[in-house]
Amino acid sequence: LRIAVLAGGTSDEREISLASGKNVVHALTEAGYGSVELIDPAAPTFLERMTGDGWDAAFIALHGIGGEDGRIQHVLEFLGIPYTASSPLASGIAMDKDLSKLLYRRAGLPVAPSVTFGRADMLPLEEIVAVVGEQSFVKPVVNGSSYGISLAKDPSELANAIEVAFEHGEKVMVEKRVFGTECSVAAVGDGETLRALPVVEILVPEQSEFYDLEVKYADPKDLHRIPACLPEDVYAQVQEIACRAHEALGLYGISRTDVIVTEDGPVILETNNIPGMTPESLVPDEARHAGIPFSELCAELVDLALK
Ligand code: DAL
Ligand code: MG
Repeated sequence: LRIAVLAGGTSDEREISLASGKNVVHALTEAGYGSVELIDPAAPTFLERMTGDGWDAAFIALHGIGGEDGRIQHVLEFLGIPYTASSPLASGIAMDKDLSKLLYRRAGLPVAPSVTFGRADMLPLEEIVAVVGEQSFVKPVVNGSSYGISLAKDPSELANAIEVAFEHGEKVMVEKRVFGTECSVAAVGDGETLRALPVVEILVPEQSEFYDLEVKYADPKDLHRIPACLPEDVYAQVQEIACRAHEALGLYGISRTDVIVTEDGPVILETNNIPGMTPESLVPDEARHAGIPFSELCAELVDLALK
């Protein structure tokens, strides 16, 4: 089989995507696929390469806008090339934190209170505080890897945080800060084979206030604890939430849901439909802990693409 591993692109997460792509190329080669190539959709020759080269499948290792939001999936649908992960529509929804929240709520899944607005319909700060309370996270509605996200520890920090978020997207979400243990867990498979991988606990270092970009790729191995240190029933509940979030958003093949386990139970932060696949990322670590070689996981995703 000839597999095109799509990585790079033009989003904020380009460098992370290139690292994911290289890791996937390595894994698929190890899994025995004879012809695996890394292709950057930002290259001017991209369409030519995709139409001319007789690919059997594309493995999408693109994160963020242009890759995780359904655009590349539309192109591959148009070209008739099977691809890993989710449909254009489900990808678009999963990339949008506000639409995702609507679907989580409809499925009865727990989320934190929030408000969303664009520049034209921005709410007065008092109204925002009335919904989210004193401390909140301010995020661009569409983006990944914590770009543009800040913690407003006090309402006086909101206006600035909102401006920062607008630099990274047209819509902004202000979400109540919930306290607890940050965890992440992947859902893999389809239908009867859909299952959760082991839950990772994110150990946010004291000097950093949340799992931000610097922390994510600094020395990440020290910052994961697998399995997460949670009571057995809560651990199972987090895994169940990951599978139900995956289904609620209509995702396919793989996703990774980030949650905070509060005193009152888990709350979903977001679901990543193309989670990071770098050697430092959470999903390869979860697979390793489950005794699944990363090459096997990648091969399963290609099988699902071809199904
Ligand atoms: N958005 C990054 C790649 C992740 O969630 O792993
Ligand atoms: Mg993300």
